[in-house]
Amino acid sequence: ATRILYDCDPGHDDAIALVMAHRSPAVEMIGVTTTCGNAEIEKTTSNALRILEFIGAGDVPVAEGCHRPLARPLVLGTADGPSGLEGSPYLPQATITTVGRHAVDFLADALAAEAGPITIVATGPLSNLGLLILKHRAVLPKIKEIIWMGGVFYRKSEIITPTEFNAFCDPEALKIVLDSGVKLKMVGLDVTMQVLVEEPQYAEFRKIDTQLGKVVVDWLLFYEKLHRNSMGVGGALHDPLALALVIDPTLVRFRPAHIGVDLRGSYTFGATVADFWNERGEAPNAEIAYEVDADRFFDLLYALLRD
Ligand code: BDR
Ligand code: CA
Repeated sequence: ATRILYDCDPGHDDAIALVMAHRSPAVEMIGVTTTCGNAEIEKTTSNALRILEFIGAGDVPVAEGCHRPLARPLVLGTADGPSGLEGSPYLPQATITTVGRHAVDFLADALAAEAGPITIVATGPLSNLGLLILKHRAVLPKIKEIIWMGGVFYRKSEIITPTEFNAFCDPEALKIVLDSGVKLKMVGLDVTMQVLVEEPQYAEFRKIDTQLGKVVVDWLLFYEKLHRNSMGVGGALHDPLALALVIDPTLVRFRPAHIGVDLRGSYTFGATVADFWNERGEAPNAEIAYEVDADRFFDLLYALLRD
């Protein structure tokens, strides 16, 4: 199995990614760190603990991270309701707790303890990883790659915004990660807005007659409503797609480019800009997802919930 550290802000889609990571025999989660984003840090941490305990992953260490972006006031997402995980009537409060250390120190020790470099999956604003890079430079060679759900580049779809939430929340942290030399794969809205839960997908989810299947359907029902109201489409499984790439890297195709992030724009603040023609003459600092096999992604997800 591929050993990973997972940094997230659950969040309904982060929650489904946590489920996938735990259920897949191809993934071994050696730690979960939380950040603010979809809700305040206390809530995303509590949600991570509730989810992990509920799915039988209560032994995975959880460390709480940044309570606000590195250089900006806190912005909270709205898509997941006030608790960050509304619509979970069957999810009890957690009895497990965090490791009691800050996420960046936990990450540094976890990386240092690894024999070789390992993957970090990140599906929230990059505050924790930005801070890790500033505070614990010595462990950076232990990061094989960061697979991050964030950014938007091609805007192939008319329903896509110029700035993606995780990038918009903490663009300075993203800049630190982009400048760090750590290998970064960006799974942006271009591909995640193509893994949508619409009627045919619901029908499949509903067939999964387990307690876990029911909880996932509850999450999707809540999540979908807000998506449909604001964007007119079903729930996009942004974060699960990023996580799924640990299990099957061929689900998405990537291309390298130098990426800039707009730290000043009035309408494009937090926008990620790819220099595909290398007009700025700078070496690529990320790989950007541009094509996804949505059907294969959903088959993988159904199978993980079923077995
Ligand atoms: C990202 O923002 C959050 O709302 C989701 O959890 C996802 O990580 C999508 O833009
Ligand atoms: Ca997220």
